[in-house]
Amino acid sequence: MTARVLSGVQPTGNLHLGNYLGAIRNFVGLQDTHECLYCVVDMHAITVFQDPKELAANTREVAAAFIAAGVDPKNHIVFNQAQVSQHAELAWVLNCVSRMGWLNRMTQFKEKAGKDREKASVGLYVYPNLMAADILLYKATHVPVGEDQKQHLELARDIAQKFNHDFKAEGFFPQPEPLIQGPATRVMSLRDGTKKMSKSDPSDLSRITMLDGPDEIAKKIRKAKTDTQALPETKEQLEGRPEAANLLGIYAALADVPLEAAIGQFAGSQFSNLKEQLAELAIEKIGPIGEEMKRLTQDPATVDAILADGAERARAIAEPIMAEVRHKVGFLGS
Ligand code: AMP
Ligand code: TRP
Repeated sequence: MTARVLSGVQPTGNLHLGNYLGAIRNFVGLQDTHECLYCVVDMHAITVFQDPKELAANTREVAAAFIAAGVDPKNHIVFNQAQVSQHAELAWVLNCVSRMGWLNRMTQFKEKAGKDREKASVGLYVYPNLMAADILLYKATHVPVGEDQKQHLELARDIAQKFNHDFKAEGFFPQPEPLIQGPATRVMSLRDGTKKMSKSDPSDLSRITMLDGPDEIAKKIRKAKTDTQALPETKEQLEGRPEAANLLGIYAALADVPLEAAIGQFAGSQFSNLKEQLAELAIEKIGPIGEEMKRLTQDPATVDAILADGAERARAIAEPIMAEVRHKVGFLGS
């Protein structure tokens, strides 16, 4: 079986360093060895209400981030989910394969729905089934994601297996492998090292966004939470020091060195030294991507043309697989 990569990012604004280090950066390297599809998952975004104008702008922004980071939309496929209606169609079939008991275990739903679960959209609940559809629609074999998506990937594997079993189609859907790579698979908030860096944190200081300029990046790192000790000498000594672990992990990822190397470089020094060098490095690595994103989004027609072309090529892969699914399920006319 040929290796095929698929991943998705939601167009919900405030694209941040965690999205970049946990996911988007890893998309780039896979292009040399795999056929890749990178999807802006606008249908996932609306599981929480999105202003329609902002959704459109955010969709272009995520596409621009892929391209600015180094994804090649000519040799690979960049598209938005809603333009390929087979995602919704397969998601319905998978809604009927997936089990309530499986979804009830999903921690992301519990976090996002919060205390008032009765008020969460039904879409938010079945969100992982749509994600399974995104992957299985292309029979993707590898899925680069941040650590927080591991559970959703396991569900996708269970759904693939149950579909194959129920419809006596052994090996039809492959078992997708998560690719969770690098020293920053879970970037934490700069204000609280025990909380994930997220698009929806009310504090702007909690995250570095891909569009932050040098002054904002420097300020956010300067204000990042620390503890009172000097930086540790070993990985074991990071235990119980979430802020130190986070800043060193970010440094290592941006410098493209193992965490151990970053620990060695700053062993025994003060946070101020790490912060200074981290700010410099982050400005150097993130700044140009943000600039390119701004340039690309100033020309929405070009971004839209890239998405339309990607969607057309995605459909060409998806439709024959969807036709097989219809046939296996027993839908007439297929
Ligand atoms: P989302 O913004 O939820 O669509 O996430 C897009 C990608 O970024 C997924 O692969 C996530 O796992 C990844 N991601 C989101 N937040 C973080 C974070 N704080 N650290 C590492 N990866 C993240
Ligand atoms: N659920 C993912 C997130 O929030 C986004 C996503 C949707 C995705 N479909 C996907 C990721 C398919 C990988 C593959 O981060």
